[in-house]
Amino acid sequence: MIVPSAVPVPPLLAVLGGERLDPPPVWLMRQAGRYLPEYRALRTAKGGFLELVYDSAAAAEITLQPIRRFGLDAAILFSDILIVPHAMGMDLTFGVGEGPRLTPPLTDGLIDGLTPVPGRLEAIYATVAAVRAALDPHVALIGFAGSPWTVATYMVAGAGSKDQGAARQLAYRDAPAFQALIDRIVAVTVDYLSGQIAAGAQTVQLFDSWAGSLAPAEFERWVIAPTAAIVGRLMVRHPDVSVIGFPKGAGAKLAAYAAETGVDAVGLDETVDPAWADAMLPPGMPVQGNIDPLALLAGGAALRESVTRVRAAFDTRPHVLNLGHGILQETPIAHVEELLAMVRGA
Ligand code: CP3
Repeated sequence: MIVPSAVPVPPLLAVLGGERLDPPPVWLMRQAGRYLPEYRALRTAKGGFLELVYDSAAAAEITLQPIRRFGLDAAILFSDILIVPHAMGMDLTFGVGEGPRLTPPLTDGLIDGLTPVPGRLEAIYATVAAVRAALDPHVALIGFAGSPWTVATYMVAGAGSKDQGAARQLAYRDAPAFQALIDRIVAVTVDYLSGQIAAGAQTVQLFDSWAGSLAPAEFERWVIAPTAAIVGRLMVRHPDVSVIGFPKGAGAKLAAYAAETGVDAVGLDETVDPAWADAMLPPGMPVQGNIDPLALLAGGAALRESVTRVRAAFDTRPHVLNLGHGILQETPIAHVEELLAMVRGA
């Protein structure tokens, strides 16, 4: 006898599990953030970005803001990928008008001098629990972490950089030291994602924003291998939880990433032709993406064409509609509403 489940499966989780839904579930990377006046107001009240992240009530409120406003299919934990190096013992600041700073930069990749502060992750788990308790059961809650490669680029340079040169050089100059750093990030990330899942995250995304800066052999070693290690270890602890991998800029290396890392779904950035992705990726593998954030900023015909193209390319594949990268600060709120109306046919 089939007993109907009393708990509805959120559309996002159904699609990540391999089901195709029409219309597709929608969420947007950086959906909570500076384009929303209610975000800017709370950030000003709390004094800064990190103050928001470490205040679980405020972070939960910010996670929920875009859900209330737009009725998106998923909430993504409000936090940052650099909380992991912070918990590994680096100092982290976000100056106004500049990017993040991690000090001291790990120029030689040596992590032995750092004293881990795992307690810094507790507030994040509390945020996850508070969000899950407040969310409608149809809305999925996504946890996340940065990929070891992308996190390492910030740890080694101490800041963002155009070409990730410091980390790429270290990886060539002293591969054992860089490997030790990557291994340490892998271990912390597995515990961190596992903690988010235990607190209520129903799927997790690995953000690999700088996957595109590596040559193919280095991509295998520093992107694919550590990602596979994280996915493998997470699956042992949480066999039912899907992992979305987002190797931004991977281009032609996307096929190897999809085939070799063990991720359940791949996120596509806006430079990927969705028809090419559909032809290259394993049949039935769910994809997420990949509307150009600038098409959302433009709205109107450009946005409509972009939505039509991506949906046509994935007309037989499980698809989560999203942007190819984070929503831009200047994006009009009306364009997000327009996008949802286009997708949902309102
Ligand atoms: O998607 C979401 O809404 C979840 C929250 C989230 C943030 N950052 C909030 C944030 C996620 C998933 C991230 C990921 C992240 N953080 C990445 C990977 C994805 C990407 O964008 O490439 C990276 C590289 C970072 C590191 C980081 N955090 C940088 C370089 C910056 C400064 C650049 C910027 O956009 O201001 C941040 C700050 C940050 N992280 C903000 C938000 C909402 C802006 C903070 C503010 O000024 O209020």
